[in-house]
Amino acid sequence: MIGRLNHIAIAVPDLVAAAVLYRDTLGAQVSEPVDLPDHGVTTVFVDLGNSKVELLHPLGEGSPIAGFLDRNAAGGVHHVCFEVADIAAAADSLRADGARVLGDGEPRIGAHGKPVLFLHPKDFCGTLIEIEQV
Ligand code: CO
Repeated sequence: MIGRLNHIAIAVPDLVAAAVLYRDTLGAQVSEPVDLPDHGVTTVFVDLGNSKVELLHPLGEGSPIAGFLDRNAAGGVHHVCFEVADIAAAADSLRADGARVLGDGEPRIGAHGKPVLFLHPKDFCGTLIEIEQV
């Protein structure tokens, strides 16, 4: 069902410092910060050629990553995103296997303008999983 790794999302307490670390210390190509108000985050995209790292920082009130950073002050891996060809079929198959799809279960438009869903970390080895239809 899942295809390639689309991205790994890392929540960071200092977006500028994290971008400099990835650009200068790790020698990666990083984007300018991009505000995604619909998602409550500011993101720096790290281009890895075959995949991406997304550095996430809270934007505005009620950011979905604010609580995560409260619990993980130094930052940390927030979720991994796998690509799927058909997100409705994937969600049906996952539910049939007992996995919990978060939210109302309806795909919403993610940071890349494509439908996404999140899966409960307790059902996947303690890792929040995003699936994205490509
Ligand atoms: Co993501």
